[in-house]
Amino acid sequence: MKKIHIFQTILIMMAMIISVSCKPKEPTDLAKASIIPKPVTVSATGEAFTLNSKTAIFVDAGSDELTRTGQYLADKLNASTGLTIVVNEAQTEPGKGSIFLTLSGADQSLGEEGYLLTVTKQQVKLSAANPAGLFMGVQTIRQITARDSVSGKPGPFRIATGTITDHPDYSYRGMMLDVSRHFFGVEDVKQVIEYLAFYKINMFHMHLSDDQGWRIEIKSWPNLTAHGGSTQVGGGQGGFYTQEQYSDIVKFAADRYITVVPEIDMPGHTNAALSSYPELNCNGKAPDLYTGTDVGFSSLCTKKEITYTFIDDVVREISALTPGPFFHIGGDESHATKVEDYIPFINRVQDIVAKYGKRVIGWDEIALSTLKPNSVAQCWASEENAIKAIAQGAKILMSPAKKAYIDMQYDKSTPLGLHWAAYIEVDDGYNWDPASYIPGVGKENIIGVEAPMWTETITKLDDIEYMMFPRLPGIAEIGWTPVSMRNWDEYKFRLAQHAKFFEEMDINYYKSPRVPW
Ligand code: ACM
Repeated sequence: MKKIHIFQTILIMMAMIISVSCKPKEPTDLAKASIIPKPVTVSATGEAFTLNSKTAIFVDAGSDELTRTGQYLADKLNASTGLTIVVNEAQTEPGKGSIFLTLSGADQSLGEEGYLLTVTKQQVKLSAANPAGLFMGVQTIRQITARDSVSGKPGPFRIATGTITDHPDYSYRGMMLDVSRHFFGVEDVKQVIEYLAFYKINMFHMHLSDDQGWRIEIKSWPNLTAHGGSTQVGGGQGGFYTQEQYSDIVKFAADRYITVVPEIDMPGHTNAALSSYPELNCNGKAPDLYTGTDVGFSSLCTKKEITYTFIDDVVREISALTPGPFFHIGGDESHATKVEDYIPFINRVQDIVAKYGKRVIGWDEIALSTLKPNSVAQCWASEENAIKAIAQGAKILMSPAKKAYIDMQYDKSTPLGLHWAAYIEVDDGYNWDPASYIPGVGKENIIGVEAPMWTETITKLDDIEYMMFPRLPGIAEIGWTPVSMRNWDEYKFRLAQHAKFFEEMDINYYKSPRVPW
């Protein structure tokens, strides 16, 4: 009798263990989903939509653009679930089991990038006023698709029910990659852009020239790349993008609603150009190529007319390949240019950029010149320059080096990166507000936020990942989510949940002790 009792108890316990292990771990509470950046409003209804072999994506009929976004979502979901979800054009309102991406009937107040996501047990419906909004909503769907495995088998794949209404706080949410100090090939750059898309970053700033290398083909000045692109920090072989390759990057980004901002840094940070063409030097002599990491020693000859012919050609060729509105003229650390030469130089370069239909961005030093009212000063170091810029009616892009530079080391033990501005732990990089960082510079003056990645010590994609993650998601949230909704003590738990995405995407990330992984 006693033996039978023990046997029954063991059986019941085994059944309990099996039933517990069969329960998907992910909650069916949409309000608890770990979405980064945090959406503006989430309301949960406590059930789940299940993805299975019958699930299909539908998009409004007749739009190649929406079909592309639908296929993007299908590719991502299929990769993470092993399902084979297909994309259809919706002739009528699709029914049960569908994920429907639509522009029809959307509230126009969602704006350029906003979206409304409604999940019921029967359907996932994503609507937006613009295609960019659908793409942003697609990233949310990717992040809320639970992908637990049960009894060793992947799935079931579920999306918690409820409604998300969402739109960004700032229109410019960016990352910069310095491809000059070290060169990164097209595939590495595309991988970085793919990571940005996941966090709803919409601007990718490419630092295409510096003392150590010129990285974009200019057909009218071919020695810039033939000679000026031939090395990098440490003396490696460097490299450059042909115009076709650059256009391929621009298109890859545009397909993800990310705008490329090209930067040609001038009048300083120009040794690679000066070494390629002696006539750009005041003394007519080309310096040697440079593979060190000093700054502030080079300058285009601001008094020579050929300098402006050169800049006109460069701005013309790059602008023709760049559909986005911005051209970044650098302008930082021009210590080898006298200020009385720097000011008229920047004024003239702004005119050249305007001639080719682009809007100027420059590092905050450009505020020393007479800024065009639509110019943007990227504030990295000087609060005084930011104040000067807004006094001239210009806008500010916030990239304070002490907070937003993602090449800064996390702490003293970080094997990569520098610390001349600060050590920036993950919480330090999250805990700041662009609109109250500089007294006198308010939200109305700011177009957004950008995280620059300088690459003196960064030589490969793995290194880029280690410095980006997990700080980049924090910058993305600062740019997207209103400051009143941001709080490190809540964010850190959502961030911890993103380790599964980092692992799924094979991202080499820093396991900060401040994040409860
Ligand atoms: C900069 O960090 N020199 C803009």
